[in-house]
Amino acid sequence: MATLGVNIDHVATIRQARRTVEPDPVWAAALAELGGADAITVHLREDRRHIQDRDLEVLRRTVQVKLNLECAIAPAMIEIACRVRPCQVTLVPEKREEITTEGGLDAVTHREATATAVRRLEEAGIAVALFIDPCSKQIDTAVDLGVAAVELHTGCYANATVDGDRHAELVKLARAGGMARQAGLVLNAGHGLTYRNVVPVARIEGMSELNIGHSIVARAVLVGLTQAVREMKSLIA
Ligand code: PXP
Repeated sequence: MATLGVNIDHVATIRQARRTVEPDPVWAAALAELGGADAITVHLREDRRHIQDRDLEVLRRTVQVKLNLECAIAPAMIEIACRVRPCQVTLVPEKREEITTEGGLDAVTHREATATAVRRLEEAGIAVALFIDPCSKQIDTAVDLGVAAVELHTGCYANATVDGDRHAELVKLARAGGMARQAGLVLNAGHGLTYRNVVPVARIEGMSELNIGHSIVARAVLVGLTQAVREMKSLIA
């Protein structure tokens, strides 16, 4: 059964809307753990639009499950990751103007910079995952770079509005997942997963971890975070 990493960025988004102290993502992490989260995921963006450095530092000391930090390959971000030492760093692309992460990291085009980031993180003893699109060139590069895991970008699957397109995207995810697993990589996935579309992705053979944020936080506004995490856990199971 795949594990659930709960991305709590959007709790911080609500706090940053008023530049105040609430709601505190650290509290949200504790509630998510109570609901059964297997990991807590945060994205420390270069523009600090939601998660702040303080959040990451307090979470590093208080999260009892796995802490997964998403960050860009920029040297300044890698330096922070090496200092804080989360259990896993997932390397993601970042553009300042985007509303959310659009597409996976292009590890083929940015191979040298990605390799440098991976090397530094591995020297610090941190497991590295690459957040990539489900295509063979990206998987091959992830294997060459020697990362521990890939997180397949499920955005195209999530955004598909027609059954046939959704199925085609699912097939791409399953194929790319099979390649990654055959090469010995841990298989994770995430982005845009919801209570309606999660089950087929959770069923992909060898799926290890699903990282889900917006949909859980959106539901939590209505039903509470512990309950929202519990409901997602039971769907994945
Ligand atoms: N995985 C990665 C690498 C992401 O960048 C994000 C968004 O921050 C997620 C998972 C979660 O996406 P969503 O909020 O759409 O569930």
